[in-house]
Amino acid sequence: MTESLLLTADRGAVRTITVNRPDKLNALNAATLDALLAAFDAAAADETVRVIVLTGAGPKAFVAGADIAEMTDLPPVAGRDFSQRGQRLMRRIETFPKPVIARINGFALGGGLELAMACHLRVAADTAKIGQPEINLGLIPGFGGTQRLLRLAGRAATLELCLTGSPVVADRALALGIVNKVAAADALDEAIDALADQLAQAAPLALRGILDCIHVGGECAMEEGLAYETAQFGLMFATDDMREGTRAFLDRRKPAFAGR
Ligand code: COA
Repeated sequence: MTESLLLTADRGAVRTITVNRPDKLNALNAATLDALLAAFDAAAADETVRVIVLTGAGPKAFVAGADIAEMTDLPPVAGRDFSQRGQRLMRRIETFPKPVIARINGFALGGGLELAMACHLRVAADTAKIGQPEINLGLIPGFGGTQRLLRLAGRAATLELCLTGSPVVADRALALGIVNKVAAADALDEAIDALADQLAQAAPLALRGILDCIHVGGECAMEEGLAYETAQFGLMFATDDMREGTRAFLDRRKPAFAGR
């Protein structure tokens, strides 16, 4: 069951996790949320994995939202539980110790945009459509969308996307700061591979330190954030990778980082 909801493939140190419900535009039902959480836990524990790419199966959608068919008859407490289930997954991805790239190959709507925003970097095909259309269902975003979009793109864009429910095209999402890069649909894989390979060759513990600092810093006061950065910076001096990186620079050679 779990295997059919997700596809997982490794290319070197890059693990691609694909939401695999193309006939439902990869809508997130409860079982898919659970499968994703398990897949991220497995990727965290696997030392050979250094970077995650998250995407959707088929030519049309990254993820077209939370599963509307599953939600339509839910009683209130189950609706709250569904939101918590989604938020738990998004938080796991947001605080993941390895870089996670969203490969936005089509519609990223509702829970799909929320999933993409929980990732650390977003690369979109120029054909992608991105939005928070819950208002059209008499709903509001429930997997962190109001909060992450606000922090990512500011009040004006968040109010526009959430209040109107109208999606934006990839280039506008880029201008709003919602995605990091837009690639022609037929060049999306090339762009993803280049970015993933660059991250896969970087020092894993330093990547983790950066992810931690930015995550903590986004949620605390400046003084606390600076203190946290200093502690993480000092920790890097305990790593072989820091010695290797600095020595390789001085020796004018390419460093090889072991993640220790
Ligand atoms: N939940 C459940 N099923 C969904 C879905 C979702 N969020 N989004 C799409 N699907 C299903 C459709 O019901 C349809 O299933 P069916 O063939 O069994 O009827 C299938 O995926 C294909 O979708 P369809 O609407 O026929 O494709 P389209 O190309 O005409 O339209 C969208 C694409 C994305 C514009 C449209 O599917 C849509 O608006 N989806 C809902 C987006 C949304 O509101 N997301 C937020 C949810 S909280």
